[in-house]
Amino acid sequence: MNQYVTVTNADTPMRDGTIKLHGQDGFDGMRKAGQLAAHVLDELTAFVTEGVTTAEIDARARELMLAGGGIPATLGYRGFTHSCCTSINHVVCHGIPADRKLKDGDIINIDVTPIVDGWHGDTSRMFLIGDVGVKARRLVDVTYECLMLGIEQARPGNRMGDVAHAIQSFAEKHRYGVVRDFCGHGLGRLFHDAPEVVHAGRPGTGPELRPGMFFTIEPMINIGKPAVKMLEDGWTAVTRDRSLSAQFEHSIGITETGCEIFTKSPKGLDHPPY
Ligand code: MF3
Ligand code: CO
Ligand code: CO
Repeated sequence: MNQYVTVTNADTPMRDGTIKLHGQDGFDGMRKAGQLAAHVLDELTAFVTEGVTTAEIDARARELMLAGGGIPATLGYRGFTHSCCTSINHVVCHGIPADRKLKDGDIINIDVTPIVDGWHGDTSRMFLIGDVGVKARRLVDVTYECLMLGIEQARPGNRMGDVAHAIQSFAEKHRYGVVRDFCGHGLGRLFHDAPEVVHAGRPGTGPELRPGMFFTIEPMINIGKPAVKMLEDGWTAVTRDRSLSAQFEHSIGITETGCEIFTKSPKGLDHPPY
């Protein structure tokens, strides 16, 4: 059972398993970090095209974060040496930017987390390269809808299981697999904190949602089975059955009446077509 602790900027953030409840200063900090994260993805939209390498996307993402007064949280995080994750086609998450060129028909998730004044804004979107098949487009649409249905359940009095159930039931209605091996997470002045935000579960179960909680929702949905496999590099997670996988992520804060999405696109580019 997680304990809930009210925190202020004066407290040293610690990964002690407690769920932090933030005040107005926290919301202000997260709004700034979240808006930079969303701005970075907005600015990448025109750049992410056929022929561009994921290393070039990484460099651009880093420049945009630094220009906006942020530092990429992933740079040097547990040995990860890049400024974003780039996960193409059957890559579920944590794809490492490299010299792979994007090609016609690819779908790619780009996940960025700038730190601004100590606060983490964590968000990802799918980008479609050229002529993408109808099956892949449908997966991307349903995955975005899964995220938004989860967010709809994020309000005081509900539990994490309500968020999870909304995501799982919609995905499975479309006969897709919900990845279990990776979760959303509490965040704030820490990148990955309690609670775990699972994307499959039963209504009325799990931690209760209270005003001041900050966490991500980031469902990974596969056309095939939920199982993933880790590649030799220790980061890249792929679908075991090699089916396509999609993901969207927002960072949110629970308010008195519902939630605030910190990472909403200022340009309205939250989901394709862009
Ligand atoms: N941004 C990812 C998340 O949503 C975490 C990436 S950690 C990395 O939690 F080291 F792989 F970059
Ligand atoms: Co995250
Ligand atoms: Co992320």
